[in-house]
Amino acid sequence: MSEAKRLSQYLAEQQRSGRVDADFVGLMNDIAAACKLISDQVNKGNLIGLLGSAESENVQGETQKKLDIISNDEFTNILAEGGHVAALASEEMDEVYNLPPNMKRGGYLCTYDPLDGSSNIDVNVTVGTIFSVLKAPEGKQNPDEQDFLKPGTEQVAAGYVTYGPSTILVLTIGDGVDGFTLDRATGEFKLTHPNITIPEQTSEFAINMSNKRFWDAPVTRYIDECLAGKEGPRGRDFNMRWVASMVAEVHRILTRGGVFMYPIDSKIRERGGKLRLMYEANPMSMIVEQAGGMSITGPERIISVQPQKLHQRVPVILGSKEEVQRIWDYHHE
Ligand code: AHG
Ligand code: MN
Ligand code: MN
Repeated sequence: MSEAKRLSQYLAEQQRSGRVDADFVGLMNDIAAACKLISDQVNKGNLIGLLGSAESENVQGETQKKLDIISNDEFTNILAEGGHVAALASEEMDEVYNLPPNMKRGGYLCTYDPLDGSSNIDVNVTVGTIFSVLKAPEGKQNPDEQDFLKPGTEQVAAGYVTYGPSTILVLTIGDGVDGFTLDRATGEFKLTHPNITIPEQTSEFAINMSNKRFWDAPVTRYIDECLAGKEGPRGRDFNMRWVASMVAEVHRILTRGGVFMYPIDSKIRERGGKLRLMYEANPMSMIVEQAGGMSITGPERIISVQPQKLHQRVPVILGSKEEVQRIWDYHHE
């Protein structure tokens, strides 16, 4: 078997073909470096005392884990020092992060969920990092919240890294989806999953069933029909998974198909949903669409949603095309 392509080689090729510029290549190398550090710390866990809560809350009122804070600091510092971004925004920071005055600015904005699925850290289940890249406004020293509020269709790139049995980086720059596995012996991400596509059909769904009594009618109908199995209107049996780490669910769906849902329900209606548009829903939706799947709020395509605020939440239904199309249809009947 010939040696797998390294991420840095892959990026250099993309630059030569004119698909990305040098600034973007620099940014992606910084993101990879940050995620390698996070991977190492998630992996060491309590050997270096990193499990457990930090006794603080983020802007959304969620208790932060020690690793939420450490991952956020590392990701933020590495990108800020790299010189390829003009500003940053994270699930774990109240406001837009502007670089210190003396630091070099780059041509991009990056939003991120530094550690997704952090309720799973202490039980040693897969967690991950999710990121989205936008163009920075021209000639602005300190971009503000408004500069970030672009629909997902304007993302230049999106990706995630899963810290599971392997550390895998999945990336789209708007021309398909590729996956890279971290080779711990050499410290490099290597192209192991070129051109990922989501099977259009599936008999597997993922939803937190404990919220069933709060769902809206179209989601209840869809799940009830799946649960009815062979004897029901779908005429076949369905299988269910729920990891409670969106990165792990999306990675499973990219690998073998499926549907993932965190829909609106009456318990979270006022908040607009559970998952965050800028850090979770938009990047995952770009990846899923680039892999041939679909990603919707219910009645709308997620990446068409015009964001109103940085920490906005949104309902998410994504995965294999045929099933998500069916759920879309149920919302429009
Ligand atoms: P985070 O750890 O970044 O706050 O995100 C957790 C999210 C998502 O990854 C997962 O699908 C969902 O929350 C799980 O929610 P429940 O605990 O309600 O099942
Ligand atoms: Mn998350
Ligand atoms: Mn998180």
